[in-house]
Amino acid sequence: MARNWTTFRELLLPRPNRRRAVETELRRALREGRLTPGTRLPSSRDLAAQLGVARGTVTAAYAQLVGEGYLTAKHGSGTTVTATGTWPSGDDAEPERPPRWRFDLRTGVPALAAFPRAEWLAAHRAALTALPDEALGYPDPAGFAGLRAELADYLGRVRAVAASPGSLVIINGSAEGLSLLSRVLRERGHRSIAVEDPSHLRSREMLTSHGLEVVPVPVDGHGLRVDALAATDCRAVFVTAAHQFPLGVVLHPQRRRELIDWARERDGLVLEDDYDAEHRYDRPAVGALQALDPSRVVYQGTTSKVLAPALRLGWLALPEHLRDDVVERKRFHDMGTATVAQAALAHLLRTGGYDRHLRRTRVLYRQRRDALLDAVASELPDWRPIGIAAGLHVVLRLPDGTDDLALERALAERGVHVRALANHTREPSFPGLVVGYAATTPDRLREAVSVVAAVFRSL
Ligand SMILES: Cc1ncc(COP(=O)(O)O)c(C=O)c1O
Repeated sequence: MARNWTTFRELLLPRPNRRRAVETELRRALREGRLTPGTRLPSSRDLAAQLGVARGTVTAAYAQLVGEGYLTAKHGSGTTVTATGTWPSGDDAEPERPPRWRFDLRTGVPALAAFPRAEWLAAHRAALTALPDEALGYPDPAGFAGLRAELADYLGRVRAVAASPGSLVIINGSAEGLSLLSRVLRERGHRSIAVEDPSHLRSREMLTSHGLEVVPVPVDGHGLRVDALAATDCRAVFVTAAHQFPLGVVLHPQRRRELIDWARERDGLVLEDDYDAEHRYDRPAVGALQALDPSRVVYQGTTSKVLAPALRLGWLALPEHLRDDVVERKRFHDMGTATVAQAALAHLLRTGGYDRHLRRTRVLYRQRRDALLDAVASELPDWRPIGIAAGLHVVLRLPDGTDDLALERALAERGVHVRALANHTREPSFPGLVVGYAATTPDRLREAVSVVAAVFRSL
């Protein structure tokens, strides 16, 4: 796709006076990914005029970069950035890392290429057609009533959440939920919050940035260790009960009861982050913890793992004693979430589009997971996959003694972006890699595992 290149000038040295300066700066922009595949470059005449250099300086730099494979020159359509995932290395290769990952196996995104664009567009059209003019004024800070009604129904049906439309607040993704809740907790005297260890790095960082001290509590094969939680001074805890992040453990029924007992005895609060529970493959659905005591559990959900993080749409099901304070915070925070997108999501839920998308992607994710596991079993038989029955990622347990952070770095050098388990924990109990597979096709996953195996063996 041809792109506007007016911002391009800022990528270059001001008035470079040598051919190599133009060439070097262009190469740097390419390698850092600021010039993406398909971008059309200005003509040599235009760029030379912008930079105040001789035209021949630019043509020579273009020719050199075409020779190196960064650029493609076609008669009649100018010079474009070559559509490739990796760049050749040259003498003056600057950043050691490739600008675009050959394989991006981080967790966090679903299959963005499978986003139901046509249905989402249709939902927007239907929503906008149906909304009365008054609905285009400032939104209800608790959320669009039509969406809250659909969600109460959906969450009850799919996650066994006990929520009425009145208990739900629509948020701009879980991230906003953490911000609002941290604020309200602090106003109520909380200074710390217990968080599973290992845990989701971003959630942990967010809680800290909102002024709560994060106290790690270990996780074992049954989920959060409630005995260890009880030994802390915290009166709030953040858990991923249906699919522990990142280990994938389901919180055991006995632990669930213990956790609710803890909350009742401590006058405490449980924040349940139900981030990817709809994605399960070989086990029955596990209902939300929230239903055990909706007065003690805040339930948090998001469209980020089902549709796309770019939507920034999520929800909280709140105990009555917190609801008004959270809505008030939301009002002061951003005056409410955008109504049209909420109405579109309500339409998607009402017409079954959300469920259909889930069914379609479940098949896709199962194939991807199986491809990953098969490849690991054949190329890295000593590695043990953990938490494979659900979600969009697995943990690969590495042989004892492996330095997972060193492996992460070595893989990055080869263009594989994957995080070591050590990043997620204060007390590493074993080395591992946390591998997100949802956004990568089976063939690419197999290729990635071959690269990972080669790098591992070379360490
Ligand atoms: C554990 C966990 N919680 C929540 C989220 C989603 O956050 P948000 O709704 O802000 O996109 C993610 C996404 O990566 C996650 O991994």
